[in-house]
Amino acid sequence: MTSGDREKGTDMGHDDTDARPTVKIASPAESRDTLALRAESLPDAERQEASRYLRAEDRDRFLLGRLILRDLIHTSTGLPVSAIVLKRDSHGRPFLPADPDLDVNLSHSGDRVAAAVGRGLRVGIDVEQHRTGLDIVAIGRQVFTPYERAVIAAAGSGALAAFFTQWTLKEALIKALGRGFLDDPRRIEIRREKDGIFQPHFVGSGPDDLGHRWRLQVLECGDHHSGALAFRARPSP
Ligand SMILES: CC(C)(COP(=O)(O)OP(=O)(O)OC[C@H]1O[C@@H](n2cnc3c(N)ncnc32)[C@H](O)[C@@H]1OP(=O)(O)O)[C@@H](O)C(=O)NCCC(=O)NCCS
Repeated sequence: MTSGDREKGTDMGHDDTDARPTVKIASPAESRDTLALRAESLPDAERQEASRYLRAEDRDRFLLGRLILRDLIHTSTGLPVSAIVLKRDSHGRPFLPADPDLDVNLSHSGDRVAAAVGRGLRVGIDVEQHRTGLDIVAIGRQVFTPYERAVIAAAGSGALAAFFTQWTLKEALIKALGRGFLDDPRRIEIRREKDGIFQPHFVGSGPDDLGHRWRLQVLECGDHHSGALAFRARPSP
């Protein structure tokens, strides 16, 4: 879409999962010139959904998200971009009825839009702009476990970036799980293990989804943005 777009298969280099998602990250600011033109290729339903956004920047993020997701789906399936139909499940999570084995997810914040697709995988992706003026201590108490809050506090002057790294890791996993707003995000704890791998754990009792070999990866999103990807092989039916 622009020279600044990045599209790649993820390379975590340490696990035994063969299939990996493909990720694309784009900048609405850099895509402005082509966005209006390319948006014409989107189905009516999506252009109508876009028109519900009052702010142009929200509309652009939505449109760009749907466009880069379609680019990834086209590369994976060969479907013409104009023939790709996306639906939402009961939690609002997009899926591809024509090829449900290809899981899809996307995220947008600030000047970043990110999309991921993975065959035979469950995928979640999250990007967040490093918004200033937030009370990260108060918000952290509502969403992070004591361990996670300690990681953020230990980052000192890098606490804002650490906050959003921890946030996007957790949010990417929540989006992969696809249940919408979890009753309490503190029930999931993302730990950085000694080997540098991020590992999710349920705090207290809960369903065993996290036992299914989740992979968590920090995505390089450039200045003032954090991003993360979560995926795992889909269990056989
Ligand atoms: C959608 C949701 C999962 C994330 O929303 P968000 O962070 O504001 O927005 P993002 O830009 O990252 O993601 C929005 C995209 O996720 C996708 N999405 C929507 N509902 C989803 C769901 N239930 N699960 C996974 N993905 C979903 C959509 O593609 C949507 O973009 P689109 O409408 O342009 O197609 C939100 O409903 C939510 O529950 N957030 C709170 C989770 C939480 O507790 N976080 C705090 C701790 S980290």
